[in-house]
Parts: sequence; structure tokens; C-alpha cells
Amino acid sequence: MLKEIKELQKTAFSELNKAQLLEDIEKVRIKYLGRKSKLSQILKGLKDLTVEQKAEVGKVANIFKRKISQEIEVKITALNEANLWPKIDITIPGIKNARGHIHPITKTIYEICDIFTSLGFNVVEGPEAEKERYNFEALNIPLDHPARDAFDTFYLKDDLLLRSHTSPVQVRVMEKEKPPIAIIVPGKVYRPDAVDATHSFMFHQVEGLLVDKNITFSDLKGTLSVFLRKMFGKEVKVRFRPHFFPFTEPSADLDVSCFVCNQKGCRVCSDTGWLEVGGAGMVDPEVFKAVNYDYDEFSGFAFGVGVERIAMLKYGINDIRLFFENDYRFLKQF
Ligand code: DAH
Repeated sequence: MLKEIKELQKTAFSELNKAQLLEDIEKVRIKYLGRKSKLSQILKGLKDLTVEQKAEVGKVANIFKRKISQEIEVKITALNEANLWPKIDITIPGIKNARGHIHPITKTIYEICDIFTSLGFNVVEGPEAEKERYNFEALNIPLDHPARDAFDTFYLKDDLLLRSHTSPVQVRVMEKEKPPIAIIVPGKVYRPDAVDATHSFMFHQVEGLLVDKNITFSDLKGTLSVFLRKMFGKEVKVRFRPHFFPFTEPSADLDVSCFVCNQKGCRVCSDTGWLEVGGAGMVDPEVFKAVNYDYDEFSGFAFGVGVERIAMLKYGINDIRLFFENDYRFLKQF
């Protein structure tokens, strides 16, 4: 009997050693300690033994029971712990979460809006999918006008296209409200332009419109001069160069003196000493007609600036594509 128990002990421990899963351990427990276990079978024969033999066999059997139970407990505890904390190595350094921030274009738009709201302008937005009337006709760009060529962009369906400028929002606001009006309109615009270092099929503009009684070109000059000096520094000079836009008369291109070379001539300004940042002019009476404003009573100015252009000049960026490639090495510098 003693020999049988010793034998049992050997197989029990070797089976327990091999057990990898909780259910394997449970099988070992049932096999060696359960009611129908081999040990129980053996102990049934105790009644035929002498008192001394009983005591001895009983002792060995109890030791075996205790040892195997203890070992089972130890193994279960170890397995449970391994399951609870299977893949965590607390000595590995943590993964640092990169902290996000706003995109340089958004940042530039915020700066532009801040300056104009401090001058009393309201920020409004308009749809990117726009009707022809707002993108063209009401802005004095009729169907057969050559100015339409550079602007005729992505049509989604008849009479619905991705807007080519933010100017349509001027019309949308004037249709709904009476003067005085002082708004700026930041937003995305779309052009059929091939992508290169200075062109993109999508970019951002901020439009401006001010309409009231007795608004003159000097109001336009004063307002834009304040804006550009706040944006680029007190020293910059502002120049209005004659140009044509269908929706303004007279119209001008808007230049700032090159602050990279102080007008000595450099690559950024192509040795001209000036940098173009947008267009402007006095609202054309045809536009007022389209929104039923009395053009004898009211006058106004409008302007449009390119956000990427301003950001490129301000931060010394030489390729517009960098804004849209989402390269973290570029973006994290702002
Ligand atoms: N919409 C013009 C463009 O995209 C920019 C512009 C020029 C807007 C003159 C104006 C303006 O409001 O008066 O090229």
C-alpha cells in the first residue's frame, strides 16, 4: 500500500508539472484527491490492516494529500497572476502622447480674424459648394466674361460648383442684411490650377466687405494698412497697384514691402521689393444692383487675401504643398 501511494505521488506530481491550464490542474486534482480518486480506492483497504500499519499508511497518505493540495494551490495562484498581468512589463518606458496643436493655416486665419474683429468686423462663413449666381453673376462675372476662365472650377452638377473665391459670401450677406455691413469671411476655395510650389487646387482666402454711407478708397487704404502692419510688422509699406476685378471699380492688387530684404531685392520678392498678398477695390455698382442696394446712397470696399500666401511670407515657407502634406516634421514647428 505504501508503495502504491509512493507511486501515486510520483505520477501526480509529474502530471501536475505538465499541466499548463487551469482545467488541466483541475483534472489532476479530481484524479488524485476527488471522491473517486485512486487514493480513496487504496484507503478503502485500510480496514484489513493492523493498527500500526493503519497509522503508518494513514500518515503517508495525509502527507501526500497535503503536499499535492499545496502544490495545486501554488500553481493555480501563479497561473491566475500570469493571466491577470500577462503582457505588462512595468519597466518598459511609457509611450509619450504627442500633444496636438492647430494647423499653421488655421493659426494664420485666427490671427487675421483677430485683427479685423478688433477693427469692428464680424466673421461670417459661407458654403463651399456654391451656386453660379453667387460665384459669378451677382459679382458682375457674366457667363461670357473672360474673367470666368480662370475661375470656372469644379462643377458638382448644373449650377453647383466648388467656389473659386470667398467673394460670393459678400452677396449672400448683402442679400440678407442692410448696411452698415463690416464682415470678413475666411474659408476654402478651389481653382483648376496645376499643383506646384506656389499653386494648389484648394487654398484659403479671407474676404472682407465694408458697406456704409460715404465709404471711400482712403477707408480701404487705411483699413488694409493697419491690417498688414499688424500682420507683418510696423515698418512694412503698403502699395495699391492698379488691377482689374469685375466686382470692384476701381480695383487694385495689394502689395506689402518685402520685409525679407527691406526692399534691397531678394529671391522672395523676385528683386522687386514688393510682395503681393491679395486684391481689393471699391464695390462695383453692378454688385449693389444685384442685391438691390441703392448705389447712390451706399458705397463700400472689398478685398480678398490669400491665407497660404500670408503664412508663407510670415514664416518663410517656400512651398505651398507643405501645408497639405501633413508631414509632422513640418507641422510641429508651429
Ligand atoms: N476674389 C478675388 C480672387 O479670388 C480676390 C478679390 C479681389 C476679392 C478684389 C475682393 C476684391 O473682394 O475686392 O482673386
